[in-house]
Amino acid sequence: MKSSFILSALGATGALAHGLVTQLLIDGTLYDNFDPNTDPYRNPRPQRIGWTLPNDGPVDGVTTAAIACGTDSTAGSLSAPATAGSSIEFFWNTWPESHRGPTMTYLAKCPGTDCTTADPTTLDWFKIDHAGLNSDGTWISDTIIANNNTRTVTIPSDIAPGPYLIRHELLALHSASNADGAQFYPMCVNLQITGTGSAVPANTVKFPGCYSPTDPGVLLNIYYPPLTSYTIPGPAPYVPGGASAPISSSDTASPAPTKASIGIGSGIPTLVPSAIPPYGNTTRPHGKPPQTTRVVDVPPKEVAGLDKVPPAAVDVAAAVPTAVAPVINTIFETVAITQILTMTVSAVETVTVTLPHPGGSDVPECTPAGRYKRGIYGYGI
Ligand SMILES: *[C@@H]1O[C@H](CO)[C@@H](O)[C@H](O)[C@H]1NC(C)=O
Ligand SMILES: *[C@@H]1O[C@H](CO)[C@@H](O)[C@H](O)[C@H]1NC(C)=O
Repeated sequence: MKSSFILSALGATGALAHGLVTQLLIDGTLYDNFDPNTDPYRNPRPQRIGWTLPNDGPVDGVTTAAIACGTDSTAGSLSAPATAGSSIEFFWNTWPESHRGPTMTYLAKCPGTDCTTADPTTLDWFKIDHAGLNSDGTWISDTIIANNNTRTVTIPSDIAPGPYLIRHELLALHSASNADGAQFYPMCVNLQITGTGSAVPANTVKFPGCYSPTDPGVLLNIYYPPLTSYTIPGPAPYVPGGASAPISSSDTASPAPTKASIGIGSGIPTLVPSAIPPYGNTTRPHGKPPQTTRVVDVPPKEVAGLDKVPPAAVDVAAAVPTAVAPVINTIFETVAITQILTMTVSAVETVTVTLPHPGGSDVPECTPAGRYKRGIYGYGI
């Protein structure tokens, strides 16, 4: 009796597992992401490019600060270099088939030299990728599951270089016919984008604010009557060339995935130093606990294997008394990692999208922040 009870309890736990982006391939370099199951318990705590998440569950509603980068999310201390025009692959560790729905990815430029002190709720986000209902009636979530739980997006080739947060998410619609039943799973990663472009996309949105609990793509029954179209939440993705995506009733929602062959040595990762706060106590947005100590994380020297995170920047600020003048040098190491990655991505997605504002304009199709009252939100599968 006891063992069967334990088994059923484990089964219930398994059923509650949702998904996390555990790795990212950015411009040819593979990164481990923040992992709420292990990172908080490691000493020293690994430094990451990804922002923290409390678990693999959905955020608490679309009108709270959590919709930006996840519940109580705090910044990763590192940033990944990425060339404008290159691709980023988001590797989810798992995704339940029942959690059907779209994916959306946004970029926002951060003030300052990197995104480690950015408040994601104040940034101006522009969408760079989305996909929802496939033309055959399956969802992009089905496609992602079939494709090694992977979504590949391309950084617009013409955007101005600088520090950017990238915000990637899946939206599970299995309970979306209930108020606040749609489940958003956003996650954020610090980038340093290089390139020769200068574009500053105009069609930007805020999080919270972009999505409403009553958006046609958020409050809907995906089972009955059978959907013939689906309105992906948020604006149209930015298309290189300066203009917003053409507004049309039938939109190929994402670039056709290409076969990408990542060659030898594509990553000699050059780590970008994280911002070093001038003095000891760093104020974090949203009432997050002040960061009174910083971990000096001297990276392990061994680099074999593909799962190693490139060496972390040593945070000198941690070792310097707070009273010392704020002339602090960042020391960071670059260790060559030779990686052989052969990525095969094959899937063609055609999504029929009915956009809410035919005719189109630069007016964000999302709604201003703070307009919606917060709903009660529950977990569930
Ligand atoms: C840093 O913050 C802690 C508590 O948050 C406080 O006790 C301490 O005095 C602060 N140190 C400085 C240098 O402000
Ligand atoms: C599948 O995803 C894992 C990460 O979850 C990644 O390490 C691996 O390279 C991926 N395989 C392919 C063929 O893309």
